[in-house]
Amino acid sequence: MEKELVIVLDFGGQYNQLVARRVRECNVYCEIYSYRTDINKIKEMNPKGIILTGGPNSCYDADSPTYTDELFQLGVPILGLCYGAQLMMHILGGKVEKAPVQEYGKTEVLVDTASPLFMGVSEKTVCWMSHSDYISRVAPGFDIVAHTSDCPVAAAQDCSRKLFAIQFHPEVLHTQEGTKMLYNFVRNVCGCAGTWRMDSFVEQSVQAIRRKVGNGKVLCALSGGVDSSVAAVMLSKAIGNQLTCVFVDHGLLRKNEGDEVEEVFGPNGPYELNFVRINAQDRYYAKLKGVTEPEEKRKIIGEEFIRVFEEEAKKIGAVDFLVQGTIYPDVVESGLGGESAVIKSHHNVGGLPDYVDFKEIIEPLRNLFKDEVRKAGLEMGIPEKLVFRQPFPGPGLGIRIIGEVTAEKVRIVQEADAIYREEIANAGLDKMIGQYFAALTNMRSVGVMGDERTYDYAIALRAVNTIDFMTAESAEIPFEVLQKVMSRIINEVRGVNRVFYDLTSKPPGTIEFE
Ligand code: XMP
Repeated sequence: MEKELVIVLDFGGQYNQLVARRVRECNVYCEIYSYRTDINKIKEMNPKGIILTGGPNSCYDADSPTYTDELFQLGVPILGLCYGAQLMMHILGGKVEKAPVQEYGKTEVLVDTASPLFMGVSEKTVCWMSHSDYISRVAPGFDIVAHTSDCPVAAAQDCSRKLFAIQFHPEVLHTQEGTKMLYNFVRNVCGCAGTWRMDSFVEQSVQAIRRKVGNGKVLCALSGGVDSSVAAVMLSKAIGNQLTCVFVDHGLLRKNEGDEVEEVFGPNGPYELNFVRINAQDRYYAKLKGVTEPEEKRKIIGEEFIRVFEEEAKKIGAVDFLVQGTIYPDVVESGLGGESAVIKSHHNVGGLPDYVDFKEIIEPLRNLFKDEVRKAGLEMGIPEKLVFRQPFPGPGLGIRIIGEVTAEKVRIVQEADAIYREEIANAGLDKMIGQYFAALTNMRSVGVMGDERTYDYAIALRAVNTIDFMTAESAEIPFEVLQKVMSRIINEVRGVNRVFYDLTSKPPGTIEFE
């Protein structure tokens, strides 16, 4: 099968991953590279198309990101978005300058539906604009194929060279027909057949793992989260019980979660693998005694994990491969893909942990976005409940208990959280909210239960909608649902006499409490 690759050349735009995800939704495989990538490397990759992303700069400034004009002579179809569109015009002889009227937000755009980009798109369509520069004159050979009341060149094309420039952002969902436009580019203009599908990805990955591992031994740290679970199942399908999964229960998981992981991956579950569960609650609680500072807690929980895992790995002895559930955003955010700054250091991408004796790392999900990981999981028959599990931080409830962590506080937050999740699911909201959980504040206050005075904790409920977890808005949960959750928590969870709903967005807040 011919490998179809579309390259996203990243000029520092905030939507770089979104562009790649939307392209993949069109069943076309797509990777993100920095604009610093050498043209020869791009030629070697032999892409079927190239997309230039947006970015925060002005292309006419001397030190702004740019690219050699050779790119436009490769004969490969190119689509420039926002900064990418301006840069294309700038390099090819058009003019870009400060716009007399800046556009930001949803904007009505009039498009020429005869353009290959806008086939099947409505003549008047709502698009997401975000620019302060504009293209005041297109480059020679280009025709204008879209405009708005303030922007004379909302899109331009040179069909003979297969070069396209769009001022707005088709990758953002606010652009109502954006996916259609990207589909038109990658499937019609670039001629990709659409071979990127999760069923064949799973099939090919399983084969590749088998070839790579041979008779080797493989070790996987299973957290119960989506990524490590999907990775483990893929490995198990490929090599059965040559795989050992070690699951460290740190006592900071959600209610019953440890048992649920064991049900799926343990000896009574459907998969062939060696499953080791380590109940290390007491060790963790002892280490966390008296610790109140969030980063200190994170550090202790992380280090303790390494210690427990290391002890277990020693019992297993040397292995050939260690599995990591790295996914594509981790790769990009670690600075190995596009232009993003290093955002999270804890991903440890490609890094070699030195606490286990192994020869090589296997990262079977390294090229997948989260939604693709989920699809791969469903393809392999992993229960929906696990596949659609919401994100859960590595340090677990440790960072959802403000102040010192104790077994009693863990019980309180687990029970409150379980009630909250149950009621959110009962209200049919569970798949609509990005992330939601209960946290235990360190605040105690006076209340009254029956005739008794109480002096108990306050639970905070959090629910956010987010696309990328970098920004988030608090979710609108119907008041009746919140009331029901409040009433159940206060009645059923000993030690709680108040419930708050957190309205803070991110920024200025974060999603977690610590
Ligand atoms: P924040 O709280 O930074 O969370 O807005 C953004 C996303 O990251 C998760 N998160 C973590 N995940 N280790 C993790 O594995 C951590 O220390 C950690 N802190 C936050 C959080 O649940 C949310 O999805």
